[in-house]
Amino acid sequence: MNRTAADPTSTVSEPARLDVHRTEADADEALRADARHGLTATPKELPPKWFYDARGSELFELITELPEYYPTRTERALLEESADAIAKASGADTIVELGSGSSAKTRLLLDAFARAGTLRRYVPQDVSEAALEGALEALGREYPDVELQGVVGDFTRDLDRLPRGGRRMIAFLGGTIGNLLPADRRQFLQLVRDVLEPGEQLLLGTGLVIDPATVVAAYDDAQGVTAEFNRNVLHVLNRELGADFDPAAFAHVALWDAENEWIEMRLRAERAMTVRVDALDLTVEFAEGEEMRTEISAKFRPAGIREMLGEVGFAVSEFWSDPEERFGLSLATAL
Ligand code: SAH
Ligand code: TRP
Repeated sequence: MNRTAADPTSTVSEPARLDVHRTEADADEALRADARHGLTATPKELPPKWFYDARGSELFELITELPEYYPTRTERALLEESADAIAKASGADTIVELGSGSSAKTRLLLDAFARAGTLRRYVPQDVSEAALEGALEALGREYPDVELQGVVGDFTRDLDRLPRGGRRMIAFLGGTIGNLLPADRRQFLQLVRDVLEPGEQLLLGTGLVIDPATVVAAYDDAQGVTAEFNRNVLHVLNRELGADFDPAAFAHVALWDAENEWIEMRLRAERAMTVRVDALDLTVEFAEGEEMRTEISAKFRPAGIREMLGEVGFAVSEFWSDPEERFGLSLATAL
């Protein structure tokens, strides 16, 4: 593997390569800024990208296998059913995937685009270098004829550095778009539109608005894996910023916000605590019962998806959904 940052000790076989658009130093600076801002805000909040260190990515993979977590298996079934139609409608030779994680479901797309005879290149992008390395290592073996170009980067900031050329389809799966707040979501979609040429495509996976009990269970599973995932962000702060959070003293909370139509994840301080964050020279007080927002996962309606994509210059050409209408897959073309 060729890496742009110095690291000759790679185990990924050719032709996979990993471009680092976001170095450890960039990430450290961004984490400090986010933590300082979020821990001194009222109410306190932390942005979700910091869940995904190696352990966080591993916990997310466990979440995707939970009986309560329907999004992954619903989206996989949709892809099984529609991947050939997507490949045919798209004709792309390059699949760029944002927040690709383990690329598990993407294999369905890679196979369909390979069957259609157009696939040349796959560009997975993720903030989690650990997740990308794992994915690339396996993909290099499974897809020896596809050019693999991993990108460590932040999809809210580094999109303009993604490779150009060829005929591209950007895939953004898993409902991850719902993790962005409305203003960030709009800005993000505008960026995605701006990096594409007219005629190139976006394949967007979105959770749909369903009954609250089902969606709450998906984000608050009986085994407590999601709770551990949520608390993982505190372990990240302890390790990266020399903080002394006691993760066990925070409870996982998942609430359906009916007005905004999103699930909100919080961490609730089970007792009053004083937390020290050495790297920020910051002391943070938590009152007993105080809740800190760590994540939203917005759910959408088909008309709303068409509207939000239309506003930034995409036309939705096809929309797939499961019989229970829990998840949607939209194929949109840049105008
Ligand atoms: N696409 C996969 C993973 C979804 S979980 C699936 O559908 O199963 C969300 C993924 O987005 C994680 O892999 C996480 O590391 C990544 N991610 C979160 N915030 C990100 C950001 N700002 N930039 C790039 N990747 C991000
Ligand atoms: N993109 C995933 C989603 O919104 C991320 C996710 C799943 C998540 N479970 C979570 C984030 C629990 C925080 C907590 O469905």
